[in-house]
Amino acid sequence: MKTRITILFLITLSINLLAQSFMQNPYGRQSISLNGKWDALIDVYCQGENSKFYLNRQPQSKTDFVEYSFNNSIRLDVPGDFNSQYPELKYYEGNVWYHRNFNATINPKKRQFIYFAGVNYLSKVWINGKLAGNHEGGFTPFQFDVTTLVKEGNNDLVVMVNNNRKIDGIPALNFDWWNYGGILRDVFLIETPLVYISDYKVQLKKGIKNTIIGYVKLEGNTSIQKVELSIPELKLKNTLTTDTLGYVSFEFKANPQLWEPDLPKMYSVTLSTGNETVKDELAFRTIETKGTTILLNGKSVFLKGVNFHEEIPQRMGRAYSDADAVMILSEVKALGCNFARTAHYPQNERIVRMAEKMGIMLWEEIPLWQGIEFSNPAILKKAETMLREMIYRDKNRGGIVIWSVANETRPSEYRDKVLTELVSLTRKLDDTRLVGTAFDNAKFDKTTSTMNLNDNVAKVVDVVGINKYFGWYNPFPVEPNQIKWDVANDKPLIMSEFGGEAVYGQHGEADVASSWSEEYQEQLYRNNLTMFRNISNLCGMSPWVLFDFRAPNRLHPTNQDGWNRKGLISDKGQRKKAWYVMKEFYNEKK
Ligand code: GCU
Repeated sequence: MKTRITILFLITLSINLLAQSFMQNPYGRQSISLNGKWDALIDVYCQGENSKFYLNRQPQSKTDFVEYSFNNSIRLDVPGDFNSQYPELKYYEGNVWYHRNFNATINPKKRQFIYFAGVNYLSKVWINGKLAGNHEGGFTPFQFDVTTLVKEGNNDLVVMVNNNRKIDGIPALNFDWWNYGGILRDVFLIETPLVYISDYKVQLKKGIKNTIIGYVKLEGNTSIQKVELSIPELKLKNTLTTDTLGYVSFEFKANPQLWEPDLPKMYSVTLSTGNETVKDELAFRTIETKGTTILLNGKSVFLKGVNFHEEIPQRMGRAYSDADAVMILSEVKALGCNFARTAHYPQNERIVRMAEKMGIMLWEEIPLWQGIEFSNPAILKKAETMLREMIYRDKNRGGIVIWSVANETRPSEYRDKVLTELVSLTRKLDDTRLVGTAFDNAKFDKTTSTMNLNDNVAKVVDVVGINKYFGWYNPFPVEPNQIKWDVANDKPLIMSEFGGEAVYGQHGEADVASSWSEEYQEQLYRNNLTMFRNISNLCGMSPWVLFDFRAPNRLHPTNQDGWNRKGLISDKGQRKKAWYVMKEFYNEKK
Protein backbone atom coordinates (compact mmCIF):
# COMPACT_ATOMS: atom_id res chain seq x y z
CA MET A 1 0.00 0.00 0.00
CA LYS A 2 2.79 2.38 1.08
CA THR A 3 4.64 1.81 -2.21
CA ARG A 4 1.48 2.58 -4.17
CA ILE A 5 1.05 5.90 -2.33
CA THR A 6 4.70 6.78 -2.92
CA ILE A 7 4.42 6.02 -6.62
CA LEU A 8 1.17 7.98 -6.86
CA PHE A 9 2.82 10.91 -5.10
CA LEU A 10 5.78 10.80 -7.42
CA ILE A 11 3.56 10.52 -10.50
CA THR A 12 1.65 13.60 -9.33
CA LEU A 13 4.86 15.41 -8.60
CA SER A 14 6.42 14.55 -11.94
CA ILE A 15 3.20 15.50 -13.77
CA ASN A 16 3.39 18.75 -11.85
CA LEU A 17 6.99 19.16 -13.00
CA LEU A 18 5.99 17.92 -16.43
CA ALA A 19 3.42 20.70 -16.49
CA GLN A 20 6.29 22.93 -17.58
CA SER A 21 6.91 22.97 -21.27
CA PHE A 22 10.61 23.67 -21.49
CA MET A 23 13.98 22.45 -20.24
CA GLN A 24 15.99 24.17 -17.54
CA ASN A 25 18.92 26.34 -18.64
CA PRO A 26 19.39 26.05 -22.42
CA TYR A 27 22.49 28.23 -22.03
CA GLY A 28 24.36 25.46 -20.26
CA ARG A 29 23.75 22.82 -22.90
CA GLN A 30 24.98 21.71 -26.31
CA SER A 31 22.74 23.66 -28.70
CA ILE A 32 22.60 25.26 -32.12
CA SER A 33 21.56 28.90 -32.16
CA LEU A 34 18.80 29.71 -34.61
CA ASN A 35 19.29 33.44 -34.08
CA GLY A 36 19.91 35.54 -37.17
CA LYS A 37 18.00 36.95 -40.16
CA TRP A 38 14.65 35.20 -40.71
CA ASP A 39 12.33 35.68 -43.70
CA ALA A 40 9.02 37.33 -42.78
CA LEU A 41 5.57 38.07 -44.18
CA ILE A 42 3.33 40.74 -42.63
CA ASP A 43 -0.07 39.02 -42.61
CA VAL A 44 -2.27 42.07 -41.89
CA TYR A 45 -5.57 40.33 -42.64
CA CYS A 46 -4.56 37.06 -40.93
CA GLN A 47 -4.94 34.95 -44.06
CA GLY A 48 -1.68 33.08 -43.66
CA GLU A 49 -3.11 30.04 -41.93
CA ASN A 50 -5.88 29.68 -44.56
CA SER A 51 -3.25 30.01 -47.25
CA LYS A 52 -1.07 27.48 -45.40
CA PHE A 53 2.04 29.69 -45.27
CA TYR A 54 3.44 27.04 -42.93
CA LEU A 55 3.89 24.70 -45.90
CA ASN A 56 6.30 27.17 -47.52
CA ARG A 57 5.07 25.73 -50.81
CA GLN A 58 7.12 26.28 -54.00
CA PRO A 59 5.44 26.07 -57.44
CA GLN A 60 5.85 22.50 -58.65
CA SER A 61 4.69 22.89 -62.26
CA LYS A 62 4.12 25.52 -64.94
CA THR A 63 0.50 25.92 -63.90
CA ASP A 64 1.04 25.64 -60.16
CA PHE A 65 -0.13 28.86 -58.42
CA VAL A 66 1.36 29.92 -55.08
CA GLU A 67 0.49 33.45 -53.96
CA TYR A 68 3.03 33.80 -51.17
CA SER A 69 6.72 33.17 -50.78
CA PHE A 70 9.34 33.60 -48.12
CA ASN A 71 11.98 34.02 -50.82
CA ASN A 72 12.84 37.70 -51.17
CA SER A 73 10.43 38.63 -48.39
CA ILE A 74 11.44 41.19 -45.81
CA ARG A 75 13.91 39.85 -43.30
CA LEU A 76 13.73 40.29 -39.54
CA ASP A 77 16.44 39.97 -36.93
CA VAL A 78 15.80 37.21 -34.41
CA PRO A 79 15.92 37.86 -31.51
CA GLY A 80 14.22 41.24 -31.62
CA ASP A 81 10.82 42.85 -31.80
CA PHE A 82 9.55 43.55 -35.33
CA ASN A 83 8.17 47.00 -34.39
CA SER A 84 11.63 48.57 -34.23
CA GLN A 85 12.95 46.95 -37.41
CA TYR A 86 10.81 48.69 -40.03
CA PRO A 87 9.27 52.16 -39.64
CA GLU A 88 5.98 50.90 -41.03
CA LEU A 89 5.84 48.29 -38.24
CA LYS A 90 6.21 50.85 -35.44
CA TYR A 91 2.62 50.42 -34.18
CA TYR A 92 1.93 47.07 -35.85
CA GLU A 93 -0.24 44.64 -33.94
CA GLY A 94 -1.28 41.48 -35.75
CA ASN A 95 0.16 38.42 -37.50
CA VAL A 96 3.76 38.15 -38.65
CA TRP A 97 5.02 34.92 -40.24
CA TYR A 98 8.67 34.06 -39.74
CA HIS A 99 10.62 31.46 -41.74
CA ARG A 100 14.10 30.03 -41.76
CA ASN A 101 15.83 26.84 -42.76
CA PHE A 102 18.15 24.83 -40.61
CA ASN A 103 20.24 21.72 -41.11
CA ALA A 104 19.91 18.69 -38.88
CA THR A 105 21.63 15.35 -38.54
CA ILE A 106 19.34 12.55 -37.47
CA ASN A 107 20.63 10.23 -34.76
CA PRO A 108 18.20 7.55 -33.52
CA LYS A 109 19.83 7.85 -30.11
CA LYS A 110 19.02 11.57 -29.86
CA ARG A 111 15.99 13.87 -29.45
CA GLN A 112 15.60 17.27 -31.09
CA PHE A 113 13.93 20.26 -29.42
CA ILE A 114 13.16 23.74 -30.67
CA TYR A 115 13.42 26.14 -27.71
CA PHE A 116 12.07 29.71 -27.75
CA ALA A 117 13.23 31.98 -24.92
CA GLY A 118 10.35 34.39 -25.54
CA VAL A 119 7.77 35.26 -28.24
CA ASN A 120 5.14 37.97 -27.73
CA TYR A 121 2.23 37.21 -27.57
CA LEU A 122 0.73 34.14 -29.33
CA SER A 123 2.88 31.77 -31.37
CA LYS A 124 2.40 28.69 -33.52
CA VAL A 125 5.35 26.66 -34.78
CA TRP A 126 5.61 24.32 -37.76
CA ILE A 127 8.50 22.12 -38.84
CA ASN A 128 8.44 20.95 -42.47
CA GLY A 129 4.78 21.89 -42.65
CA LYS A 130 3.73 19.96 -39.56
CA LEU A 131 2.44 21.72 -36.42
CA ALA A 132 4.91 21.41 -33.54
CA GLY A 133 2.75 23.34 -31.07
CA ASN A 134 1.65 26.75 -29.85
CA HIS A 135 2.18 29.01 -26.87
CA GLU A 136 0.49 32.00 -25.21
CA GLY A 137 2.44 34.56 -23.21
CA GLY A 138 5.10 37.03 -24.19
CA PHE A 139 7.68 36.74 -21.45
CA THR A 140 8.47 33.08 -20.67
CA PRO A 141 10.14 30.26 -22.62
CA PHE A 142 8.60 27.28 -24.34
CA GLN A 143 9.87 24.33 -26.35
CA PHE A 144 8.62 21.60 -28.64
CA ASP A 145 9.96 18.09 -29.08
CA VAL A 146 10.44 17.99 -32.85
CA THR A 147 12.27 14.66 -33.02
CA THR A 148 9.62 13.12 -35.26
CA LEU A 149 9.30 16.27 -37.42
CA VAL A 150 12.95 17.04 -38.18
CA LYS A 151 14.56 15.33 -41.18
CA GLU A 152 18.15 14.76 -42.24
CA GLY A 153 19.61 17.80 -43.96
CA ASN A 154 17.54 20.87 -44.70
CA ASN A 155 14.44 21.67 -42.63
CA ASP A 156 11.78 24.38 -42.82
CA LEU A 157 10.90 26.22 -39.63
CA VAL A 158 7.84 28.50 -39.76
CA VAL A 159 6.55 30.54 -36.81
CA MET A 160 3.34 32.55 -36.78
CA VAL A 161 3.44 35.35 -34.18
CA ASN A 162 0.48 37.48 -33.15
CA ASN A 163 0.83 40.44 -30.77
CA ASN A 164 -2.76 41.66 -30.73
CA ARG A 165 -3.81 42.80 -27.26
CA LYS A 166 -6.69 40.70 -25.90
CA ILE A 167 -9.40 41.30 -23.26
CA ASP A 168 -8.54 37.87 -21.81
CA GLY A 169 -4.79 38.33 -22.27
CA ILE A 170 -2.13 38.85 -19.59
CA PRO A 171 -1.46 41.76 -19.87
CA ALA A 172 -4.83 42.70 -21.31
CA LEU A 173 -5.94 45.53 -23.59
CA ASN A 174 -4.19 48.43 -21.88
CA PHE A 175 -0.72 48.69 -20.37
CA ASP A 176 1.92 51.37 -20.08
CA TRP A 177 4.67 49.97 -22.26
CA TRP A 178 5.16 49.39 -25.99
CA ASN A 179 3.40 46.31 -27.31
CA TYR A 180 6.54 44.92 -28.92
CA GLY A 181 5.72 41.81 -30.94
CA GLY A 182 7.82 39.07 -32.46
CA ILE A 183 10.42 36.45 -31.63
CA LEU A 184 11.89 38.68 -28.96
CA ARG A 185 14.50 36.35 -27.48
CA ASP A 186 16.92 33.53 -28.35
CA VAL A 187 15.90 30.47 -30.37
CA PHE A 188 17.79 27.17 -30.06
CA LEU A 189 17.82 23.76 -31.68
CA ILE A 190 18.79 21.47 -28.82
CA GLU A 191 19.76 17.85 -29.26
CA THR A 192 19.55 15.63 -26.19
CA PRO A 193 19.92 11.94 -25.37
CA LEU A 194 16.67 9.96 -25.48
CA VAL A 195 16.53 10.36 -21.69
CA TYR A 196 17.79 13.84 -20.81
CA ILE A 197 18.19 16.18 -17.85
CA SER A 198 15.06 18.29 -18.29
CA ASP A 199 14.96 20.04 -14.93
CA TYR A 200 16.89 20.55 -11.72
CA LYS A 201 16.93 22.75 -8.67
CA VAL A 202 20.06 23.40 -6.60
CA GLN A 203 19.61 25.99 -3.86
CA LEU A 204 20.14 26.52 -0.13
CA LYS A 205 17.42 25.04 2.04
CA LYS A 206 15.06 27.78 3.25
CA GLY A 207 16.89 29.76 5.93
CA ILE A 208 19.70 27.18 6.30
CA LYS A 209 23.09 28.46 5.20
CA ASN A 210 24.93 25.14 5.27
CA THR A 211 22.47 22.85 3.55
CA ILE A 212 22.01 22.52 -0.22
CA ILE A 213 18.82 20.86 -1.38
CA GLY A 214 17.20 20.23 -4.71
CA TYR A 215 16.23 17.67 -7.27
CA VAL A 216 17.06 16.43 -10.74
CA LYS A 217 14.36 15.35 -13.19
CA LEU A 218 15.11 13.30 -16.26
CA GLU A 219 12.68 13.22 -19.16
CA GLY A 220 12.02 10.43 -21.61
CA ASN A 221 11.60 6.70 -21.21
CA THR A 222 13.11 6.96 -17.77
CA SER A 223 14.40 4.18 -15.60
CA ILE A 224 16.58 4.13 -12.54
CA GLN A 225 19.70 6.07 -13.57
CA LYS A 226 22.80 7.66 -12.07
CA VAL A 227 23.23 11.43 -12.22
CA GLU A 228 26.37 13.14 -11.01
CA LEU A 229 26.10 16.54 -9.37
CA SER A 230 29.38 18.30 -8.85
CA ILE A 231 30.37 21.66 -7.38
CA PRO A 232 34.18 21.50 -7.70
CA GLU A 233 34.91 24.60 -5.62
CA LEU A 234 33.03 23.03 -2.72
CA LYS A 235 34.87 19.75 -3.34
CA LEU A 236 31.45 18.23 -3.83
CA LYS A 237 30.74 15.36 -6.21
CA ASN A 238 27.57 13.39 -5.50
CA THR A 239 26.33 10.47 -7.52
CA LEU A 240 22.55 10.45 -7.30
CA THR A 241 20.25 7.59 -8.28
CA THR A 242 16.89 8.46 -9.79
CA ASP A 243 13.69 6.52 -9.29
CA THR A 244 11.95 4.83 -12.20
CA LEU A 245 10.36 8.15 -13.15
CA GLY A 246 13.78 9.78 -13.52
CA TYR A 247 13.37 11.89 -10.39
CA VAL A 248 15.79 12.20 -7.49
CA SER A 249 15.85 14.73 -4.67
CA PHE A 250 18.86 15.47 -2.49
CA GLU A 251 20.01 17.34 0.58
CA PHE A 252 23.58 17.64 1.73
CA LYS A 253 25.73 19.76 3.99
CA ALA A 254 28.00 22.36 2.43
CA ASN A 255 29.53 25.66 3.41
CA PRO A 256 29.36 27.87 0.35
CA GLN A 257 30.43 31.48 0.48
CA LEU A 258 27.11 33.25 0.53
CA TRP A 259 26.13 35.48 -2.38
CA GLU A 260 25.70 39.14 -1.57
CA PRO A 261 25.51 42.31 -3.67
CA ASP A 262 29.00 43.50 -2.77
CA LEU A 263 30.48 40.05 -3.27
CA PRO A 264 28.23 38.10 -5.71
CA LYS A 265 29.96 34.75 -5.33
CA MET A 266 28.96 32.23 -8.00
CA TYR A 267 29.71 28.50 -8.10
CA SER A 268 30.14 26.38 -11.20
CA VAL A 269 27.78 23.43 -10.97
CA THR A 270 27.76 20.47 -13.35
CA LEU A 271 25.06 17.88 -13.76
CA SER A 272 25.93 14.87 -15.87
CA THR A 273 24.62 11.50 -16.86
CA GLY A 274 26.69 9.19 -19.04
CA ASN A 275 25.21 10.86 -22.13
CA GLU A 276 25.05 14.58 -21.38
CA THR A 277 26.38 17.41 -19.27
CA VAL A 278 24.55 20.57 -18.19
CA LYS A 279 26.60 23.39 -16.69
CA ASP A 280 25.29 26.25 -14.58
CA GLU A 281 26.59 29.09 -12.40
CA LEU A 282 24.71 29.28 -9.09
CA ALA A 283 24.51 31.68 -6.17
CA PHE A 284 23.80 30.46 -2.65
CA ARG A 285 22.08 32.81 -0.23
CA THR A 286 19.10 32.94 2.11
CA ILE A 287 16.31 35.50 1.97
CA GLU A 288 13.59 35.86 4.54
CA THR A 289 11.56 38.40 6.46
CA LYS A 290 11.67 38.89 10.20
CA GLY A 291 8.89 41.18 11.43
CA THR A 292 9.21 44.28 9.29
CA THR A 293 12.75 43.60 8.07
CA ILE A 294 14.17 41.70 5.14
CA LEU A 295 17.13 39.46 5.96
CA LEU A 296 19.72 38.50 3.35
CA ASN A 297 21.89 35.68 4.75
CA GLY A 298 20.42 36.50 8.15
CA LYS A 299 21.43 40.18 8.05
CA SER A 300 18.99 43.04 7.63
CA VAL A 301 19.23 44.58 4.15
CA PHE A 302 17.72 47.74 2.65
CA LEU A 303 16.74 47.22 -1.00
CA LYS A 304 18.21 50.21 -2.85
CA GLY A 305 16.48 49.69 -6.14
CA VAL A 306 15.11 51.00 -9.38
CA ASN A 307 12.56 49.81 -11.95
CA PHE A 308 13.54 49.15 -15.55
CA HIS A 309 11.75 47.91 -18.64
CA GLU A 310 13.28 45.35 -21.01
CA GLU A 311 13.98 48.03 -23.59
CA ILE A 312 16.98 49.76 -25.17
CA PRO A 313 15.64 53.31 -25.64
CA GLN A 314 18.37 54.32 -28.10
CA ARG A 315 17.31 51.42 -30.37
CA MET A 316 13.63 51.88 -29.46
CA GLY A 317 13.28 48.12 -29.12
CA ARG A 318 13.27 45.18 -26.76
CA ALA A 319 16.52 44.29 -24.98
CA TYR A 320 17.61 40.71 -25.59
CA SER A 321 21.41 40.31 -25.63
CA ASP A 322 24.19 40.19 -23.08
CA ALA A 323 25.37 43.57 -24.36
CA ASP A 324 21.89 44.99 -23.73
CA ALA A 325 21.91 43.47 -20.25
CA VAL A 326 25.27 45.04 -19.47
CA MET A 327 24.09 48.45 -20.70
CA ILE A 328 20.99 48.44 -18.50
CA LEU A 329 22.53 46.81 -15.43
CA SER A 330 25.65 48.96 -15.42
CA GLU A 331 23.33 51.95 -15.08
CA VAL A 332 21.51 50.14 -12.23
CA LYS A 333 24.85 49.71 -10.47
CA ALA A 334 25.95 53.28 -11.27
CA LEU A 335 22.88 54.60 -9.46
CA GLY A 336 24.11 52.79 -6.34
CA CYS A 337 21.52 50.00 -6.43
CA ASN A 338 21.68 46.53 -4.92
CA PHE A 339 18.13 45.75 -6.14
CA ALA A 340 15.90 46.19 -9.17
CA ARG A 341 12.34 45.45 -10.19
CA THR A 342 12.14 44.06 -13.72
CA ALA A 343 9.02 46.22 -14.25
CA HIS A 344 6.00 44.05 -14.85
CA TYR A 345 7.09 40.81 -16.54
CA PRO A 346 9.86 38.18 -16.48
CA GLN A 347 12.68 39.66 -18.53
CA ASN A 348 15.03 37.59 -20.70
CA GLU A 349 17.18 35.04 -18.95
CA ARG A 350 20.36 36.86 -19.97
CA ILE A 351 19.40 39.94 -17.95
CA VAL A 352 18.37 37.81 -14.95
CA ARG A 353 21.67 35.87 -15.04
CA MET A 354 23.73 39.02 -15.56
CA ALA A 355 22.01 40.77 -12.63
CA GLU A 356 22.95 37.85 -10.38
CA LYS A 357 26.57 38.02 -11.51
CA MET A 358 26.63 41.80 -10.91
CA GLY A 359 25.19 41.53 -7.40
CA ILE A 360 21.71 42.94 -8.12
CA MET A 361 18.77 41.39 -6.26
CA LEU A 362 15.62 41.19 -8.36
CA TRP A 363 11.85 41.50 -7.91
CA GLU A 364 10.33 39.54 -10.79
CA GLU A 365 6.63 39.78 -11.68
CA ILE A 366 4.01 38.26 -13.96
CA PRO A 367 2.20 40.85 -16.10
CA LEU A 368 -1.16 40.96 -14.26
CA TRP A 369 -1.16 44.72 -14.81
CA GLN A 370 -4.15 46.88 -13.77
CA GLY A 371 -7.27 46.09 -15.88
CA ILE A 372 -7.44 42.27 -15.95
CA GLU A 373 -10.65 40.30 -16.53
CA PHE A 374 -10.43 38.44 -13.22
CA SER A 375 -14.03 37.18 -13.53
CA ASN A 376 -12.99 35.07 -16.53
CA PRO A 377 -11.97 31.60 -15.24
CA ALA A 378 -9.37 31.40 -18.04
CA ILE A 379 -7.40 34.22 -16.38
CA LEU A 380 -6.48 32.20 -13.29
CA LYS A 381 -5.32 29.34 -15.50
CA LYS A 382 -3.24 31.60 -17.73
CA ALA A 383 -1.78 33.44 -14.74
CA GLU A 384 -0.91 30.13 -13.07
CA THR A 385 0.84 28.99 -16.25
CA MET A 386 2.85 32.22 -16.48
CA LEU A 387 3.72 32.03 -12.77
CA ARG A 388 4.80 28.39 -13.09
CA GLU A 389 6.90 29.20 -16.18
CA MET A 390 8.56 32.20 -14.48
CA ILE A 391 9.41 30.28 -11.30
CA TYR A 392 10.35 27.13 -13.22
CA ARG A 393 12.79 29.08 -15.42
CA ASP A 394 14.38 31.16 -12.63
CA LYS A 395 14.18 28.96 -9.50
CA ASN A 396 17.97 28.51 -9.57
CA ARG A 397 18.67 32.24 -9.83
CA GLY A 398 19.82 33.21 -6.35
CA GLY A 399 19.69 36.87 -7.38
CA ILE A 400 15.89 36.74 -7.48
CA VAL A 401 14.54 37.46 -4.00
CA ILE A 402 10.89 38.40 -4.63
CA TRP A 403 8.23 36.85 -6.86
CA SER A 404 5.35 39.25 -7.52
CA VAL A 405 1.95 38.13 -8.73
CA ALA A 406 0.43 41.44 -9.87
CA ASN A 407 0.68 45.21 -10.28
CA GLU A 408 -2.00 47.75 -9.34
CA THR A 409 -5.01 45.48 -9.66
CA ARG A 410 -8.36 46.62 -8.32
CA PRO A 411 -9.71 44.81 -5.21
CA SER A 412 -12.76 42.69 -5.96
CA GLU A 413 -14.05 39.27 -4.98
CA TYR A 414 -12.65 37.74 -8.19
CA ARG A 415 -9.31 39.58 -8.05
CA ASP A 416 -8.77 38.78 -4.36
CA LYS A 417 -9.48 35.10 -5.02
CA VAL A 418 -7.17 34.87 -8.04
CA LEU A 419 -4.28 36.72 -6.37
CA THR A 420 -4.63 34.78 -3.12
CA GLU A 421 -4.47 31.52 -5.09
CA LEU A 422 -1.43 32.76 -7.00
CA VAL A 423 0.31 33.71 -3.75
CA SER A 424 -0.21 30.23 -2.32
CA LEU A 425 0.84 28.58 -5.60
CA THR A 426 4.03 30.67 -5.52
CA ARG A 427 4.84 29.34 -2.06
CA LYS A 428 4.15 25.78 -3.18
CA LEU A 429 6.45 26.15 -6.17
CA ASP A 430 9.22 27.88 -4.23
CA ASP A 431 9.31 28.22 -0.45
CA THR A 432 12.71 29.93 -0.46
CA ARG A 433 11.83 33.38 -1.84
CA LEU A 434 9.50 36.18 -0.72
CA VAL A 435 6.11 36.76 -2.33
CA GLY A 436 5.07 40.32 -3.05
CA THR A 437 2.61 42.40 -5.03
CA ALA A 438 2.49 46.09 -5.96
CA PHE A 439 -0.56 48.03 -4.74
CA ASP A 440 -1.58 51.51 -5.84
CA ASN A 441 -4.67 51.74 -3.64
CA ALA A 442 -3.11 53.13 -0.47
CA LYS A 443 -5.28 56.10 0.53
CA PHE A 444 -4.56 59.35 2.40
CA ASP A 445 -6.88 59.97 5.36
CA LYS A 446 -6.94 63.74 5.76
CA THR A 447 -8.46 63.58 9.24
CA THR A 448 -5.34 61.85 10.51
CA SER A 449 -2.86 62.79 7.75
CA THR A 450 -2.18 59.08 7.47
CA MET A 451 -1.76 56.68 4.55
CA ASN A 452 -3.74 53.48 4.92
CA LEU A 453 -4.19 50.35 2.80
CA ASN A 454 -7.29 48.24 3.05
CA ASP A 455 -6.64 45.25 0.80
CA ASN A 456 -7.13 41.56 1.56
CA VAL A 457 -4.23 40.55 -0.65
CA ALA A 458 -1.83 42.67 1.44
CA LYS A 459 -2.58 40.28 4.30
CA VAL A 460 -1.30 37.20 2.47
CA VAL A 461 1.96 38.43 0.88
CA ASP A 462 5.36 38.53 2.60
CA VAL A 463 6.24 41.97 1.26
CA VAL A 464 3.89 44.82 0.35
CA GLY A 465 4.87 46.97 -2.61
CA ILE A 466 3.35 50.46 -2.69
CA ASN A 467 3.15 52.48 -5.90
CA LYS A 468 2.40 56.14 -5.06
CA TYR A 469 2.98 59.19 -7.23
CA PHE A 470 2.67 62.09 -4.80
CA GLY A 471 3.80 65.20 -6.62
CA TRP A 472 2.82 63.85 -10.03
CA TYR A 473 -0.63 62.39 -10.55
CA ASN A 474 -1.74 64.15 -7.41
CA PRO A 475 -0.06 66.84 -5.32
CA PHE A 476 1.14 66.14 -1.79
CA PRO A 477 -2.00 66.49 0.34
CA VAL A 478 0.03 68.11 3.14
CA GLU A 479 3.73 68.82 3.59
CA PRO A 480 5.65 65.60 2.85
CA ASN A 481 7.07 65.35 6.35
CA GLN A 482 3.53 65.63 7.79
CA ILE A 483 2.31 62.44 6.12
CA LYS A 484 2.15 59.46 8.45
CA TRP A 485 2.05 55.88 7.18
CA ASP A 486 0.02 53.05 8.67
CA VAL A 487 0.36 50.47 5.88
CA ALA A 488 1.00 46.75 6.47
CA ASN A 489 2.80 47.55 9.70
CA ASP A 490 3.37 43.89 10.46
CA LYS A 491 5.56 43.26 7.39
CA PRO A 492 8.23 44.85 5.19
CA LEU A 493 7.07 47.64 2.87
CA ILE A 494 8.83 48.53 -0.38
CA MET A 495 8.03 51.74 -2.23
CA SER A 496 7.86 49.79 -5.50
CA GLU A 497 7.07 52.86 -7.61
CA PHE A 498 7.26 56.62 -7.19
CA GLY A 499 8.47 59.49 -9.39
CA GLY A 500 7.40 61.99 -12.01
CA GLU A 501 8.21 63.09 -15.53
CA ALA A 502 10.83 65.48 -16.85
CA VAL A 503 12.23 66.13 -20.28
CA TYR A 504 16.02 66.02 -20.11
CA GLY A 505 17.43 69.53 -20.63
CA GLN A 506 14.06 71.17 -20.07
CA HIS A 507 14.32 73.65 -17.18
CA GLY A 508 11.63 75.47 -15.25
CA GLU A 509 10.02 76.18 -11.89
CA ALA A 510 10.58 73.46 -9.31
CA ASP A 511 6.96 73.86 -8.15
CA VAL A 512 5.20 73.81 -11.53
CA ALA A 513 4.21 70.26 -12.49
CA SER A 514 3.33 71.23 -16.06
CA SER A 515 6.87 72.48 -16.60
CA TRP A 516 7.93 68.87 -17.12
CA SER A 517 11.28 70.26 -15.97
CA GLU A 518 14.26 68.57 -14.45
CA GLU A 519 13.96 70.97 -11.49
CA TYR A 520 10.39 69.86 -10.83
CA GLN A 521 11.33 66.17 -10.98
CA GLU A 522 14.33 66.81 -8.73
CA GLN A 523 12.20 68.53 -6.09
CA LEU A 524 9.55 65.80 -6.39
CA TYR A 525 12.18 63.20 -5.53
CA ARG A 526 13.42 65.23 -2.57
CA ASN A 527 9.84 65.56 -1.29
CA ASN A 528 9.18 61.82 -1.61
CA LEU A 529 12.42 60.91 0.16
CA THR A 530 11.40 63.29 2.97
CA MET A 531 8.04 61.54 3.28
CA PHE A 532 9.64 58.08 3.23
CA ARG A 533 11.41 58.88 6.52
CA ASN A 534 7.98 58.46 8.19
CA ILE A 535 7.49 54.88 6.97
CA SER A 536 8.63 52.78 9.90
CA ASN A 537 8.51 49.46 8.01
CA LEU A 538 10.19 50.74 4.82
CA CYS A 539 12.69 48.09 3.68
CA GLY A 540 13.39 49.22 0.18
CA MET A 541 12.44 51.37 -2.75
CA SER A 542 12.51 51.29 -6.52
CA PRO A 543 11.82 54.66 -8.19
CA TRP A 544 9.88 54.51 -11.41
CA VAL A 545 11.96 54.36 -13.67
CA LEU A 546 15.62 54.04 -14.75
CA PHE A 547 15.21 55.13 -18.42
CA ASP A 548 12.54 57.06 -20.31
CA PHE A 549 10.61 54.34 -22.13
CA ARG A 550 8.14 54.06 -25.00
CA ALA A 551 4.43 54.01 -24.17
CA PRO A 552 1.62 54.67 -26.68
CA ASN A 553 -0.62 56.25 -24.02
CA ARG A 554 1.87 59.06 -23.41
CA LEU A 555 0.49 61.56 -25.89
CA HIS A 556 1.62 64.99 -24.76
CA PRO A 557 3.07 66.09 -28.14
CA THR A 558 6.01 68.12 -26.89
CA ASN A 559 6.83 66.55 -23.51
CA GLN A 560 6.11 62.88 -24.29
CA ASP A 561 5.40 62.06 -27.96
CA GLY A 562 4.92 58.38 -27.16
CA TRP A 563 7.50 58.29 -24.36
CA ASN A 564 6.96 57.97 -20.62
CA ARG A 565 9.43 60.57 -19.32
CA LYS A 566 9.68 59.37 -15.71
CA GLY A 567 13.19 58.14 -16.42
CA LEU A 568 15.98 59.23 -14.12
CA ILE A 569 17.92 58.91 -17.38
CA SER A 570 16.70 60.15 -20.76
CA ASP A 571 16.18 57.86 -23.76
CA LYS A 572 19.56 59.07 -25.00
CA GLY A 573 21.29 58.05 -21.77
CA GLN A 574 21.58 61.52 -20.19
CA ARG A 575 21.19 61.62 -16.39
CA LYS A 576 18.58 64.09 -15.16
CA LYS A 577 18.94 66.15 -11.93
CA ALA A 578 16.73 63.66 -10.06
CA TRP A 579 19.26 60.91 -10.83
CA TYR A 580 21.76 62.72 -8.61
CA VAL A 581 19.20 62.98 -5.80
CA MET A 582 18.77 59.19 -5.79
CA LYS A 583 22.50 58.58 -6.20
CA GLU A 584 23.26 60.73 -3.15
CA PHE A 585 20.50 59.05 -1.12
CA TYR A 586 21.75 55.54 -1.94
CA ASN A 587 25.33 56.51 -1.23
CA GLU A 588 24.35 57.59 2.27
CA LYS A 589 21.81 54.80 2.92
CA LYS A 590 23.23 51.88 4.89
C1 GCU B 1 2.01 52.74 -12.84
C2 GCU B 1 2.45 51.47 -13.51
C3 GCU B 1 3.60 51.68 -14.47
C4 GCU B 1 3.42 53.01 -15.18
C5 GCU B 1 3.60 54.08 -14.14
C6 GCU B 1 3.36 55.48 -14.71
O1 GCU B 1 2.13 52.65 -11.49
O2 GCU B 1 2.79 50.45 -12.63
O3 GCU B 1 3.62 50.60 -15.38
O4 GCU B 1 4.37 53.18 -16.22
O5 GCU B 1 2.67 53.93 -13.07
O6 GCU B 1 2.24 55.96 -14.56
O7 GCU B 1 4.30 56.01 -15.30
